[in-house]
Amino acid sequence: MKLLLATGNDHKAREIAALLARTRLELATLKDFPAVPAVVEDGRTLMENAVKKAVEPALATGLWTLADDTGLEVEALDGRPGVYSARYAGPGCDFAANCRKLLADLEGVPPPARKAAFRTVVALASPDGRVQCREGRLEGRIATAPVGKNGFGYDPVFYLPDEGRTLAQLSDEEKNDLSHRALALKAILPVLADIPR
Ligand code: IMP
Repeated sequence: MKLLLATGNDHKAREIAALLARTRLELATLKDFPAVPAVVEDGRTLMENAVKKAVEPALATGLWTLADDTGLEVEALDGRPGVYSARYAGPGCDFAANCRKLLADLEGVPPPARKAAFRTVVALASPDGRVQCREGRLEGRIATAPVGKNGFGYDPVFYLPDEGRTLAQLSDEEKNDLSHRALALKAILPVLADIPR
């Protein structure tokens, strides 16, 4: 069966594809469907955005569709940037600008007070727009400077105390063993397995 991964982010698509490798689903991405309109991520919660990102392309393509929405929640910033993580440094900003803004906002905050968590909501939509969601969460701390070259987004500034490394210092396989996205996907695997073929 074909499953549409509703993301234009190649890194994310690679992570998800690796996690779904054993399912033998035939994966497509939005790059295979250039006529599908871009989804406006204007939800007030990660779940609202994940549902929109899955349902709109599912209805447009007639395919089972999987989408995720992720937010970085920083304790010292009262949970920000949260649902606004993608545009934290302003509309159209890149990953490096977001990391710089985060480090600037936490200037002077000592390591024990730099607690943060990534939260991912995955949504699986049927071709007629019914949807199920699952969640995954990874706790860590915001580093004081970016370290590491792997991954994407906030990975270079997300430090894992148990590993002694940032997410950007982990290999793809290591990140997929523990990440927020991996946990959310593992939780939705039984639902995927139940899709009538
Ligand atoms: P979205 O889920 O693509 O909307 O992601 C929201 C923001 O979080 C974007 O700035 C992403 O780069 C960032 N982000 C999403 N997933 C990850 C991740 O696994 N590691 C680091 N940053 C991420």
